[in-house]
Amino acid sequence: MAVLKMLHGAVLTLLLFVLDIYSVSARSEQQPAVIIIGAGMSGISAAKTLSDSGIKNILILEATNRIGGRIHKKNFAGLNVEIGANWVEGVNGQEVNPIWTLANKLKLRTFRSDFSNLSSNVYENGLLNSSTAQSVLDDADKVAEAASEFSKSLSPSGQDDISVLTFQRLSQSVPSTAVEMAVDYFNHDYEFAEPPRVTSLQNTEPLPTFANYGEDVYAVVDQRGYESTVYHLACQFLASDSNGNIIDPRLKLNKAVNKIEYSDKGVTVSTEDGSTYKSDYVMVSASVGVLQSDLIKFKPDLPSWKILAIYQFDMAVYTNIFIKFPYKFWPSGNGTEFFLYANERRGYYPVWRHFELVYPGSNLLLATVTDEESRRIEQQPDSETKAEIMEVLRSMFGKNIPEATDILVPKWWSNRFYKGTFSNWPIGVSRAEYDQIRAPVGRVYFTGEHTSQHYNGYVHGAYLSGVDSAFMLISCIKYGSCDVQIDTKA
Ligand SMILES: Cc1cc2nc3c(=O)[nH]c(=O)nc-3n(C[C@H](O)[C@H](O)[C@H](O)COP(=O)(O)OP(=O)(O)OC[C@H]3O[C@@H](n4cnc5c(N)ncnc54)[C@H](O)[C@@H]3O)c2cc1C
Ligand SMILES: *[C@@H]1O[C@H](CO)[C@@H](O)[C@H](O)[C@H]1NC(C)=O
Ligand SMILES: *[C@@H]1O[C@H](CO)[C@@H](O)[C@H](O)[C@H]1NC(C)=O
Ligand SMILES: *[C@@H]1O[C@H](CO)[C@@H](O)[C@H](O)[C@H]1NC(C)=O
Repeated sequence: MAVLKMLHGAVLTLLLFVLDIYSVSARSEQQPAVIIIGAGMSGISAAKTLSDSGIKNILILEATNRIGGRIHKKNFAGLNVEIGANWVEGVNGQEVNPIWTLANKLKLRTFRSDFSNLSSNVYENGLLNSSTAQSVLDDADKVAEAASEFSKSLSPSGQDDISVLTFQRLSQSVPSTAVEMAVDYFNHDYEFAEPPRVTSLQNTEPLPTFANYGEDVYAVVDQRGYESTVYHLACQFLASDSNGNIIDPRLKLNKAVNKIEYSDKGVTVSTEDGSTYKSDYVMVSASVGVLQSDLIKFKPDLPSWKILAIYQFDMAVYTNIFIKFPYKFWPSGNGTEFFLYANERRGYYPVWRHFELVYPGSNLLLATVTDEESRRIEQQPDSETKAEIMEVLRSMFGKNIPEATDILVPKWWSNRFYKGTFSNWPIGVSRAEYDQIRAPVGRVYFTGEHTSQHYNGYVHGAYLSGVDSAFMLISCIKYGSCDVQIDTKA
């Protein structure tokens, strides 16, 4: 009897053991509740928010071999430089920018950008008289103030929206000289990566980022890179090894999604390598540029209100070109970090920056171009870009400057996983239409900087949109409230 009982017990234990193995393997292959497409700031922020709320059976599919997306450092001439986002924008205001909080928590090395001495650093053929430059800057400031006032008087419906250029025409202040155009470029294109002709006045003047978080911008100049903010968030909910590498099976790299099939029962996501993944919901964080391309096919097609909203928004292009020299030939003390080049051709290598204050002896310059110039430059050999830059620098600093030894030209526009750098609000897109970009379609949710309610185009916009979209999905999953109130009539 006792023997039988023991035997019985052993069989039971064995049986339980087998059952346990089975349930473990079943659990690890369990269908995720949510697939998140993209591991940039918004995708990671959304995934963390879901995880914090207890929804931990998630799967993140990222097309590239890294996380961080448009926040990315690259080694150039022995230094890690930021080829994507560089600044925490909107600091020292009434509210605290959540990215500023994060940067401080990580003790990221940051440096406040000081543009106050710009008038002494404008070049045309050689250095320009600073009082000439100052009067152009002052006039532009007055127009911007008037634009802000005018913008507040426009109907909130968005029906009266005009472009920034239209306001310049109304106030008879359309920039025409090379110096006026350089200053105009600095004030608008250098922020939005598109010219005043296309940018919405109502949605950029005043800009919520600066109005709410403050006027200051701080450059991240830390060898760990701005991307360490994304790693920090990721490592709070994904398993990582002692070197900080993420080893969690819920993050899959090199998985380019090319199809999303959705119905009221669930979602099937396919990747270019032939894998398919099923889940209850999917959240797409790819850029609006990617959504405008045919990389990801939706089955059935997205509804026409959604497609129209996506197509109406702009994916702008902003290119930071890094150039290395054998020695510095530019002024490098306080109040010289940023300088302008005025040329008849608007947007031709107009804004410059040196790194001597943050990385002394780096002998590195940064030239910024945007929009058409970015697209042109991405399509020509870097050696040609370098030759153009040398010519510009000779007209600024004289013939005797040394030849550049190296150049780095980031190519965000040609990259099919980005198709540009950040979204810009075009004239004529109302708030209601903008809300449609963020709206879910059945079980397909959207996030990303282009869905941020107030901060599109920015790192903090990406971060906050991830939190917002995750909360929308959490109230659907947990409380069954899946009807998001969004005005879908265009
Ligand atoms: C040059 C440049 C300068 C900038 N400067 C600043 C700045 O100074 N300050 C600031 O606040 N912001 C700046 N920005 C904007 C900021 O970087 C972005 O707003 C933000 O990082 C976007 O995050 P996201 O998660 O929305 O998108 P992303 O970072 O683009 O993340 C989306 C992810 O999805 C992946 N993906 C795309 N398609 C697929 C697919 N089919 N399948 C799977 N994965 C896919 C991408 O690889 C990417 O990792 C800059 C951006 C650039 C490029
Ligand atoms: C700059 O121009 C003003 C007149 O516009 C002149 O008074 C001043 O001397 C000039 N300064 C320099 C440094 O040339
Ligand atoms: C720049 O200004 C800071 C204080 O604002 C000072 O500490 C530093 O020495 C100055 N550097 C140079 C090169 O003048
Ligand atoms: C302003 O810039 C000029 C020219 O580069 C420089 O000589 C000067 O020291 C700067 N002034 C201040 C106050 O930073």
